[in-house]
Amino acid sequence: MTPLPIAVLGSGKGSNFRSILDASRHDGLAVTTVLVASDDPNAGILDLARNASIPTFLVRETRWRTRLSEATEQSLADEIAASGARLVVLAGFMRLLKGPLLRAFTGRIINIHPSLLPAFPGLEAWRQALEARATTTGCTVHLVDEGMDTGRILDQLEVPVLPEDSAETLHARIQQAEHRLYPSVLARIAADGLP
Ligand code: GRF
Repeated sequence: MTPLPIAVLGSGKGSNFRSILDASRHDGLAVTTVLVASDDPNAGILDLARNASIPTFLVRETRWRTRLSEATEQSLADEIAASGARLVVLAGFMRLLKGPLLRAFTGRIINIHPSLLPAFPGLEAWRQALEARATTTGCTVHLVDEGMDTGRILDQLEVPVLPEDSAETLHARIQQAEHRLYPSVLARIAADGLP
């Protein structure tokens, strides 16, 4: 099977990206990362990409913190289109997409979120779950639309909330689940396409 070319966008340490890279190297996941983009020059995800000789792109946005200007989002969309990516994989990208990238890749952008959506959208979903005294939470892979964590759900994994959990221990357990869920959803998309 020809590997599906993907672009990965992240703002953080890139542990989800690492799980995708590992699965494509060792577990037969039929995707190839053709671009990694970040809005933070110090993000670990960029180091992971450079170490794997994958092209990187720095999104420069100083005007907004949680979104991108029309021009900046357009430059990102152009870069992704030029990379040949067929799917955009958000892995901890801390900006809402509103314009050019959403339009250029409608229905071909996916995200991973650390809760069982529609519960606990938005920031620090694991902390929200603790504060709500939920006994179960998890993670969700979904299609991206204009809303915040509102797109069609592709798959979810449940994670128990333990009585002794802190925000850190719960987040770590959810991330372990994310590292299984994202590669498995990508394998399905690579084989069958998107819904
Ligand atoms: C993940 O927990 C994901 O759910 C959220 O951002 C985090 C990214 O972590 N959207 P990492 O950079 O992949 O380690």
